[in-house]
Amino acid sequence: MSDAPIAIFDSGVGGLTVAAAIAKRLPAEHLVYLGDTARLPYGTKSPETVTRYAVQATRALMRFQPKLIVVACNTASAVALPVLTAAYAPVPVLGVVEPGARAAVAASKGGPIAVIATEGTVRGGAYVRAIHALKPGARIVQRACPLFVSLAEEGWTDGPVPELAAERYLDDIFKAADRPDTLVLGCTHFPVLVAPIAKAVGQNVMLVDSAATTAQEVEHLLDTRALRRTGPTKLPTFMGTDAPERFARVGSGFFGRPIATDQVELVDLTP
Ligand code: DGL
Repeated sequence: MSDAPIAIFDSGVGGLTVAAAIAKRLPAEHLVYLGDTARLPYGTKSPETVTRYAVQATRALMRFQPKLIVVACNTASAVALPVLTAAYAPVPVLGVVEPGARAAVAASKGGPIAVIATEGTVRGGAYVRAIHALKPGARIVQRACPLFVSLAEEGWTDGPVPELAAERYLDDIFKAADRPDTLVLGCTHFPVLVAPIAKAVGQNVMLVDSAATTAQEVEHLLDTRALRRTGPTKLPTFMGTDAPERFARVGSGFFGRPIATDQVELVDLTP
């Protein structure tokens, strides 16, 4: 079983930021990544639809007989985790909201914590619950930033357009008297926009995301179950539900390593 892959999915290529953190921490692991690029964004859809898509994505990944499933999408983690956990037991399913909340609580010095995410994640309040479970009474302010998903997918990660978008979304929160000291990038697409976001929030704000904390959690889970892979390095497997060329081109920026178009298999998730 330890030789089995770790299956990872997101609505698009954003989850590759999480895959990159796992690959960095656990270089011997074989990663199988699925981006549901044809149906992105998940963040504006209902919990029922996101759950249905998440189940279909996981079903497609099960053909690799993974030892672990990582839901590298905050929106899907926020709504579909219980359903996936029950449906695919005993294969463990790990989301990114709890690791993100843990990173936020560790980073905050006691000031308010700001969470930026998709509309779906904000509406469902998963981060608020996860942060309060770790730190009851923590002050939290949330803001949906759906345009960041399109900017990230478009590769517009610096310059005036994302800077203006970041200012428009975040100015009032970070100009308030009770300014947050921590900002959670509660969407796996947002880490590539860290430069314009950091510029908009100004100094003395810790920017955290769930990628590194999720990778830590993956490592812990593999170690406690004696599931670490020791074999020779295997190239990651990539799958997308639309446009492999675009997946490879845009995804390379998220993964931090080049992805070739012929490395991306086109899959159809519709039953
Ligand atoms: N990357 C996903 C997340 O973490 C959502 C982007 C989207 O599909 O809206 O929430």
